[in-house]
Amino acid sequence: MSEEWWKEAVIYQIYPSSFKDTKNTGWGDLKGIISKVDYLKGLGVDIVWISPIYKSPQADMGYDIADYKLIDPCYGTNEDIDVLIAELKKRDMKLMMDLVVNHTSDQHDWFKSSISSPKSPKRDWYIWKPPKGHDASGNPLPPNNWSQILGDANSAWTYDKSSNEYYLSLFTPDQPDLNWENPEVRVAVHDVMRFWLDKGACGYRMDVINLISKDQRFPDADETIVNTASGDAAGDTGGSAKYHPGWKWYVNGPRMHEYLRELKKEVLEPYKAVTVGEMPRVSDIDEIIKTVGQKDGELKMIFIFDVVDLDNVPGQGRMALGDWEVRDLVKPIEKWQTVMIEREGWNSVFIENHDNPRSVSRFCDDSDKWREKGAKLLALMQTTLSGTIFVYQGEEIGMRNMPKDWDVAEYKDIESINYWKKSLKLHGNDKDGLKKAREVLDTKARDHARTPMQWDASHNAGFCSENVKPWMRVMDDFKTVNTDVQTRFSSEDDLSVLQYWKRGLANRKEHADAFVYGDYQTIDDADNGSVFAYLKTGKESGQWLIVLNFSGQPVEWSIPEEVKVKGWKEGTYFKGKPDNPTKGVVALRPWEGLLGMCSDWF
Ligand code: GLC
Repeated sequence: MSEEWWKEAVIYQIYPSSFKDTKNTGWGDLKGIISKVDYLKGLGVDIVWISPIYKSPQADMGYDIADYKLIDPCYGTNEDIDVLIAELKKRDMKLMMDLVVNHTSDQHDWFKSSISSPKSPKRDWYIWKPPKGHDASGNPLPPNNWSQILGDANSAWTYDKSSNEYYLSLFTPDQPDLNWENPEVRVAVHDVMRFWLDKGACGYRMDVINLISKDQRFPDADETIVNTASGDAAGDTGGSAKYHPGWKWYVNGPRMHEYLRELKKEVLEPYKAVTVGEMPRVSDIDEIIKTVGQKDGELKMIFIFDVVDLDNVPGQGRMALGDWEVRDLVKPIEKWQTVMIEREGWNSVFIENHDNPRSVSRFCDDSDKWREKGAKLLALMQTTLSGTIFVYQGEEIGMRNMPKDWDVAEYKDIESINYWKKSLKLHGNDKDGLKKAREVLDTKARDHARTPMQWDASHNAGFCSENVKPWMRVMDDFKTVNTDVQTRFSSEDDLSVLQYWKRGLANRKEHADAFVYGDYQTIDDADNGSVFAYLKTGKESGQWLIVLNFSGQPVEWSIPEEVKVKGWKEGTYFKGKPDNPTKGVVALRPWEGLLGMCSDWF
C-alpha cells in the first residue's frame, strides 16, 4: 500500500448516537456500527471516522471528553473497538478516531483537579485568570470580552467562586480549554494519541485544532463583531452586546504551527497517521499551505469551511441566514481546487458533517419532487472534485432537514437550545422575531444532520427496535428515504441516490488520475445564475466535463467551442449514458448534472 493511500480513500463519517442501536436504548452504539460494516464496504468506504465515543457527560454530544482512553458505556466497551478495528481490517478498511484536545469536559479528572485548588499540580493545565475588576455592585468581571461559541452564558470565561478566578471555556462552561502553553499538557495529548494508534486506528480527525494556541495577552475582541449563536443574541440588538467573538486572538494563534510540528514529530510521522484537522475561520492560503503542504505540512488534510459557511452572515456567525447564489458556491470550490494544485497542498472534499444542515436542503431543493435529483447532483459534483472525499452518514441516501412543522422541542443540540432560549428572551411575545429565529433553526441547526440514520421502512427506520424511543425523532420520510429501499431499487433507466453514490465513488476510484488528483478548470461559474461547469483533467484518462444545473428550471446550456466532448458517460437522470448532443446547446432539466468525456478513447 502506498504511503499516500489515503488520498484515494473514501472517508465516511459516523455520528454514533444516531447510526444504529443494538442495545435497545434508542442511542446508537459500537455493535451497531459493527453490524453495518458490510454496508459501508458496499458503498465504497475505506476509512470510517466516528465522532467522539469516549466517556463523556454528552453536554456537547461527546465533544466534551471526560476520559480519553475509555469508550463511553453508552457506546460499548474498549473491546468493542478492537472488534470493530478487526472487522474493518478483514475488509481492508480502517478506523479514524475523533480527537478533541482544544478542551476537555469539566468532568475530566484533569479539570476536577485543576478546579480543586490554585495549588493543584493540574491548575496550569487549563487557562485561569483573575477577574478584570468588579462592577458597581461588586460582581467580578471576566478577564476580557470574548463571547462563548455555543453556550448560553455570555462570556467565554466561567467564574469559579471558590478561587475567585475565571477559567476559559470557549464553547460552553462544560468544556474548559486546555492550556497548550504547558508542555505537560502537550505530552499528555501525545500519549492519548498513541493509545488509539497503538490499538490500530489509522489516524485522527482533529477537532477545532486551530484554536489550541491563544494569544497570551488575551486582548479584547473587536466590539463590532457579533455572534447570534451565543452571547446575548447580539446580532439582533446591534452594538449593545457585552461579549464578542475573539476569533482573531485564538484562531491559528501564535504557537499553533509549533504545536502541530511537535505533534507531527512525536506522533503523526512515526505512526504514519492519517489526519484531518478541523480549521474553522481560516482561508488565508499561506497559513493553510503551512498546514497541508504536501512537502512539509503538519497535517495530511484539513477541513476548510468556505463552502459550508457560504450562507453565514459576515460578522454574525452561523446562526443567521445569509443570501447566497450559485456563484458563491463556485468561488470557494474554484479557489481551493486550483490553489491546492498550484501550491502542492491537499484538499478534503465535503459539504456535510454533524455541524451542518443537510446538503440537499441547503444547496438544492428537498421537496419530494426534486430531492433525489438534487442529492445526485451534489454526489456528481463531489465525486469529481480533487482531494480526499468525505461522505456523511445519510448523505448517501439524500437525507434532508427536519420538517418545519416539528415542535421546537425536537431540537436537542446545545447550540440550538441555547439559541432558542436567547431568542425567547430577546423577542418575548414578538411573533415576527420568533418566526425569524425559528427559520434560522429550520435552516441552519446542527440537529438536521443528527436525526437517526434511516435503514429500512420499519417503525424507527431500523435505527432501533420498534418499541424503543429514539433519542431524536426519526424523520417522517423514512419509508421512502432509507438504505434498504434504495439498495433494492430496480429500474431500467434510473438509479436510487444510494446506487448513484456507489457508482460515483467507483468511477472516482477508477479514474482517480482525473477525479482525485486531476487539474481543475472552471468553464461556467454560474454566470447565468444556475449552471456550474468545470473540466477535470487526468494524466491517463484525459479531460472530463462536468455540467451541473443548480436550479429547479430547465436551462439551455452551450458547450464552449474549445471543449470537445466525445460523449456523455453519465448523468443524474439516467442509469446509462445520456443521449445528449456533444456540441452546441444541451438542454438541462431541473437539477440535472452530466459527466462528459473529452478524450479520444471514449
Ligand atoms: C467542533 C465539533 C463540534 C463541537 C465543537 C466543540 O466544531 O465539530 O460538534 O461542538 O468542535 O468541541
